[in-house]
Amino acid sequence: MRNPFIAGNWKMYKNKKDALAFAEELKSIYSNSDIKVAICAPYTQLDTLVSAFKGTNIKVGAQNVHYESEGAYTGEVSLDMLKEIGIDYCIIGHSERRTYFNETDESINKKIKKIFLESDIVPILCVGENLKEREDGLQEIIVKNQLEKALTNINADEVKKLVVAYEPIWAIGTGITATPEEAEIMCKLIRDTLTMLYDDEISDLITIQYGGSVKPSNASDIMNMDEIDGALVGGASLNAQDFFEIIRF
Ligand code: PGA
Repeated sequence: MRNPFIAGNWKMYKNKKDALAFAEELKSIYSNSDIKVAICAPYTQLDTLVSAFKGTNIKVGAQNVHYESEGAYTGEVSLDMLKEIGIDYCIIGHSERRTYFNETDESINKKIKKIFLESDIVPILCVGENLKEREDGLQEIIVKNQLEKALTNINADEVKKLVVAYEPIWAIGTGITATPEEAEIMCKLIRDTLTMLYDDEISDLITIQYGGSVKPSNASDIMNMDEIDGALVGGASLNAQDFFEIIRF
């Protein structure tokens, strides 16, 4: 662990009232530490969370953004709209978006470019193989390819702010976690790919998280691995006490 960062991904859960209650509970138990912390919430709760966490070290993130500045894209949200709220992070290319909303490596690349060019928001790029790909031994090829395509034409100065989340699809929401060793191998592959695309110095600065059924009971084993800088936490981030136990692993 060199760039510690733990983020919650609420997915499509909670309303404003729940978000506020969560924020109040987390603030009451959280004390500032060296570990960066963020909650990535549905758009409608971002405002509530930004106000509730003001004056703390807890940051707020979105779960998606459109790559165009504006236009006839019913149902989408632009980068300027997110900047106006004052968020710090944005998840890009989550496997649920790739699977259910046809996000492609190309659209993911456009989103990352847009974010880096026009904001200080930090993209959390998700990569990871599905069960069939893992069973066929293709995980390294899949993840390397996703990473290379997502980072096409992203320069070294921009990419050093990036967060990459390795999220094997078979471990997301299933209760099955990759073993710390399996996660470490893939996070090392991501680090090595970043070194190949940029250089050692840059790849050292990039935060690499593991995601997929992280919970209080397995957080420390995973995050104590050398190449793993933190976690992207889904289900267990919905409960302030569980999330707190993970961030103080
Ligand atoms: P999970 O989700 O922790 O519920 O497995 C992780 C994620 O999808 O980011």
